[in-house]
Amino acid sequence: MTAAGIIMRLAHILLSAASFAVLASGAVWAGNDGGDSSGQAQVSAEPSTQRQHIRVLAASCAACHGTNGNSVGGTPVLSGLHPEHFSSQMQAFKSGQRASTVMHRHARGLTDSEIVQLAEYFYKQPRHQSALPPTAKPGSDMP
Ligand code: HEC
Repeated sequence: MTAAGIIMRLAHILLSAASFAVLASGAVWAGNDGGDSSGQAQVSAEPSTQRQHIRVLAASCAACHGTNGNSVGGTPVLSGLHPEHFSSQMQAFKSGQRASTVMHRHARGLTDSEIVQLAEYFYKQPRHQSALPPTAKPGSDMP
């Protein structure tokens, strides 16, 4: 093979490598595009974003009612609470029918639909007896 022939051959190899790279990047780009559209499908999938929203709301209750409604303090345990009881109490806080120290403020910030969904959420949370503090023995270090 002549020197010119070798150069031509190298140029050909380089060119095909370059076009392969373009094709490959095109394929990757097309792949990304496919990924984007599935991302859009996820955003439009109402139920999962709705669940996420309710989980975020429920997490805001944890400061007082414990993780997943398993209160360890004096606040009522919400886990496993009957949804009808939950909703009726929330509506009573909202209207002022049930006197409360803090719950009227939380209830008023929620829509009726959010209350119903929070009721379902907490009803499904297992009640952990172990989350409750052990019974204090008489004469122990309780103040
Ligand atoms: C700042 C503390 C605090 C936060 C945050 C809080 N709660 Fe409460 N919750 C209470 C207290 C205290 C009570 C008892 C009633 C009262 O005094 O307000 C209560 C009572 C309740 C009850 C009545 C339970 C029963 O069986 O009578 C429900 C239901 C409830 N809360 C739901 C929620 C939900 C849902 C959230 C989150 C959106 C939430 N709470 C956030 C403190 C809190």
